[in-house]
Amino acid sequence: MKSLVTGGAGFIGSHLVDLLIEKGHDVIVLDALTYAGTKEHLDEAVKTGKCELVVGDISDRSLVFSLLKQHKVEFVYHLAAESHVDNSINDSSAFISTNINGTHALLTAAQEYLAQESPENFKFIHVSTDEVFGNLGPDDEPFTETTAYAPNSPYSASKAASDLLVRAWTRTYKFPAVITNCSNNYGSRQHKEKLIPTIIRNALAETPIPIYGTGGNVRDWLYVKDHCEGIYKASMTGRIGESYCFGGDCELSNLDLAHLICEMIDEFKAKEGNDFVSAASLISFVDDRKGHDWRYAVDYAKAKRELGFAPTPDFKDKLKETVDYYYKLISGVKKGSL
Ligand SMILES: NC(=O)c1ccc[n+]([C@@H]2O[C@H](COP(=O)([O-])OP(=O)(O)OC[C@H]3O[C@@H](n4cnc5c(N)ncnc54)[C@H](O)[C@@H]3O)[C@@H](O)[C@H]2O)c1
Repeated sequence: MKSLVTGGAGFIGSHLVDLLIEKGHDVIVLDALTYAGTKEHLDEAVKTGKCELVVGDISDRSLVFSLLKQHKVEFVYHLAAESHVDNSINDSSAFISTNINGTHALLTAAQEYLAQESPENFKFIHVSTDEVFGNLGPDDEPFTETTAYAPNSPYSASKAASDLLVRAWTRTYKFPAVITNCSNNYGSRQHKEKLIPTIIRNALAETPIPIYGTGGNVRDWLYVKDHCEGIYKASMTGRIGESYCFGGDCELSNLDLAHLICEMIDEFKAKEGNDFVSAASLISFVDDRKGHDWRYAVDYAKAKRELGFAPTPDFKDKLKETVDYYYKLISGVKKGSL
């Protein structure tokens, strides 16, 4: 099977590439290698001879078309995006251009490919976020596929727009696409600007760990490899024109998450036997993010029923494995950059 993965040099994309190779796919990665993309994430995949990285922009319609045609692509996994909310608040331009216009370019290139080549079993998997649904109060029911879209940040608005384009393509042109909306991911290879790598990096450097507002904002954490399993299942058995929500059964406030990571870092440091500053003492509250959503939570019953998706239950073990990964990377034991 031939797959095109956009954004495959990023956090989730590179884990998905590894999974696809494991499942026997040949993978073309299309990635612009923005500040968020790292070629080294694909080192192992490239070594298998089953993965080729093409450095390019998803907005380059003719490049996308020629890749689809040349490689007779059967599955497009679309993950390329500008993905950091804070950046979208500072300057939204790249978010509009990649997340909306880029998705449009991909859709029209794939449409032309379908019209010219009539590939059998072609499917387009649009990977999106639960943030499109907006904000939950403490007692609200979790998001489902029927929750109304109400994005609150330029990032989530741009992702919502891309979801709606994909949806419209399935309705208007019978375009064979599936949409997935997932909660917050954690695991290795995440960019250092994101919450978990920031907590770990600052704890190790013994510098203040910034936590927005009161730290009470709640996120539903899903291990990145579980997300990739969900995306894969959606590509194999997801119904065309449907969307599927993925969640981790793991709601935590940012403050509780920070404390958990700090405990793990203290344990690592204690093993080294040197004096150290307790990481939790470095937690420092900073001005809240503008328009900060209070809570996200996902009901993944449809994905469980139709796709057999379920998160693995061992959050603390996976988090520890993640902390260990960054710990080794930062302390130079492991090769790579954060
Ligand atoms: N990280 C999460 O918690 C999370 C949760 C739910 C959904 N998502 C979605 O999953 C997808 C991947 O997220 P991530 O966290 O891996 O992001 P990331 O920022 O780590 O990776 C994005 C990748 O896209 C590439 N890219 C950016 N603009 C491009 C362009 N114009 N053309 C080609 N490549 C481009 C970057 O170089 C990078 O490799 C995104 O669509 C995001 O909205 C992420």
